[in-house]
Amino acid sequence: MFYKIVTYGCQMNVHESEKIAGLLEQCGYSPLPSEDIAPDIIVFNTCCIRDNAERRALGNIGVVKAEKKRNPALILAVCGCMTQQDGAKDVIKQRYPYVDIVLGTRNISRLPEEIGKVLASRAAAKKSDKRYRAFDTEYLSDYLNVDENTPVFRTSYPNAWVNIIYGCNNFCSYCIVPYVRGREVSRSVDDVLDEVKSCVDEGYGETTLLGQNVNSYGNDIADRDVNFAALLRKIDALDGKFRVRFMTSHPKDLNEEIADAMAQSNKICKNIHLPVQAGSDKVLRDMNRRYTREHYLGLIDMLRSKMPDIGITTDIMVGFPTETEEDFRDTVDLVEKVGYSNAFTFVYSPRKGTPAAAMPQIPYEIKKRRIGEIIKLQNSVTKRLSENYIGGVYEVLVEDVAPKHAGMVCGRTDSGRLVTFPGSSDDVGKFVDVRITESRSASLFGFAEDKPFDKQNG
Ligand code: 5AD
Ligand code: SF4
Repeated sequence: MFYKIVTYGCQMNVHESEKIAGLLEQCGYSPLPSEDIAPDIIVFNTCCIRDNAERRALGNIGVVKAEKKRNPALILAVCGCMTQQDGAKDVIKQRYPYVDIVLGTRNISRLPEEIGKVLASRAAAKKSDKRYRAFDTEYLSDYLNVDENTPVFRTSYPNAWVNIIYGCNNFCSYCIVPYVRGREVSRSVDDVLDEVKSCVDEGYGETTLLGQNVNSYGNDIADRDVNFAALLRKIDALDGKFRVRFMTSHPKDLNEEIADAMAQSNKICKNIHLPVQAGSDKVLRDMNRRYTREHYLGLIDMLRSKMPDIGITTDIMVGFPTETEEDFRDTVDLVEKVGYSNAFTFVYSPRKGTPAAAMPQIPYEIKKRRIGEIIKLQNSVTKRLSENYIGGVYEVLVEDVAPKHAGMVCGRTDSGRLVTFPGSSDDVGKFVDVRITESRSASLFGFAEDKPFDKQNG
């Protein structure tokens, strides 16, 4: 019996798909070995952060209708953020009658039970009988306990994703996440430490701590004595050779205590993803971001004063309803000032039920021009900063064979930059000192310090 999981969206979803895979393995399913073989179950792990993510998922669920006709034994499940939106359950119920199981963001542990019920109802049903369909989207009150017992089938070696906090309390005015992922719930310190330890023992060279807002870790624990900075220090004190990254940080909650924990650690990477969204105070206020441009720039200075080589990435959104040309210029100016090593850029997409969706919208042509300009600018910044790496030696954790370069592997520096150099699949998971010899825009190229002969051969 084979399973196929189709994942949309962020790292949180990628990791939740690892939990879905863990549950399916427990039920006796194996990963689909080839696209030529028909799967017995397909799971769509969906995203609804922007309209295009949602449309892509719905389109692909539509395509499966034909597959299900060919193979009526196929089980089709839809999980993730999309299922948790207002009215989504009814839409799937009516328009996608061939979907067997719908699970919300805090219900994936129900998958084995619901597969059992679907199979039992199929076995018992006569031709005309209605088959059982599962719709579980309520927020379980014992979610954390259930989640701790969910098996994980990791798929991102040598990186292990580790959740530290679920949900979001921030309600940025454009964002659907707080509505589909519920309020913040932090895992216990011991559970996080145990998971990180077991990943290190299993040979994972890198752990990435996940949460919509990792900086507010612990705020929801009543007698809390551990905040995010303290958690970082405890993880840093664990034995073994490994690295730690975390995402995502919120500028309103990032502080000097966290920066000190990073700066004084050996294992926490000097790398931070700090979404700014916009460079204008008015737009930041309308977005309900709860920080100013000045505060944000102050954080960047503070981080760099403690960690001069820190790699900083961000998310930028253009075309928010109240963004004028002048506001957009403020964003351009901020991008020039900060010098991000990379930026994820988005066109604002109205999400039903969020305050910003009810505001008068900006024409698409304007959004398109603005996103084009910001991408071009950031590309030139990335290219310029890449050149600073040339001639230096950086420790790289090898992640994979390079997809586009035969005989090469790729991995990241501590600061998060992607490096490609000669190597083989045997190197995956190893730490290698690499001398950088060339930069091409966002990619750095080099040679392992202890294998200079590759220079002649490569
Ligand atoms: N439209 C466009 N981008 C969005 N993001 C969140 N909501 C929206 C939306 N409605 C972006 C933000 C966030 C990233 C994960 O997605 O930049 O940081
Ligand atoms: Fe969305 Fe804001 Fe929460 Fe991030 S912090 S998930 S952008 S509401």
